[in-house]
Amino acid sequence: MAIIAPSLLSANFLHLESACEMINNSDAEWFHLDVMDGRFVPNISFGIPIIAAVRKATQKICDVHLMIEEPEKFTQVFKDAGADVLTVHVEACNHLHRNIQQIKSLGMKAGVAINPHTPLEALNEIIGFADLICVMSVNPGFGGQQFIHATLQKIERLKNKIIQSGAQTLIEVDGGVTLENAANIVAAGADVLVAGNTVFNSQHPAETIRLLRNI
Ligand code: DX5
Ligand code: ZN
Repeated sequence: MAIIAPSLLSANFLHLESACEMINNSDAEWFHLDVMDGRFVPNISFGIPIIAAVRKATQKICDVHLMIEEPEKFTQVFKDAGADVLTVHVEACNHLHRNIQQIKSLGMKAGVAINPHTPLEALNEIIGFADLICVMSVNPGFGGQQFIHATLQKIERLKNKIIQSGAQTLIEVDGGVTLENAANIVAAGADVLVAGNTVFNSQHPAETIRLLRNI
């Protein structure tokens, strides 16, 4: 059974409180919070005040996905806002090992996200240090995009690398997860499924979360 992390990016921002309540009362264990800076990705989403507000609305794990340049400048700020998991992009970090240590030293779990075009080899030296690898299955920046099928093989290869290295690193898959493809994604090795559009544009979001979780 995978951990489900609904992405608030697809929620109705005028009704964030009810979106939080829905997730609180659902089988989802994590909240996925997408921060975009308009530089690392061609879109701007939300930032620190929203995360701090969501933090107050839930006891669940707040999984913050930073799609920003120079994320190391904001590690403390996101800790203070209430992040439990802080994920930075391998493509955005010149000193990834240092960034991971910085995140962990503040008591958060450290995640590393990898874009579709980036080879897994970019993670070779840090797999044992990261708590989570977020495999992007779309090009980051927008919700509601189509899952890139080649990601399945990438997840399988990453799973093997993690097992071979003896690490406990979780694999999170982010982008285009649906009720139709979730079983294959979990079979490939995913531990955490992010789902935005699939959850928030469904008739019964909590039921959709339950179905995803039981896949
Ligand atoms: C994309 C974000 C995702 C996004 C997923 O850049 O990182 O977390 O919200 O949305 P869906 O599930 O709609 O692809
Ligand atoms: Zn995300």
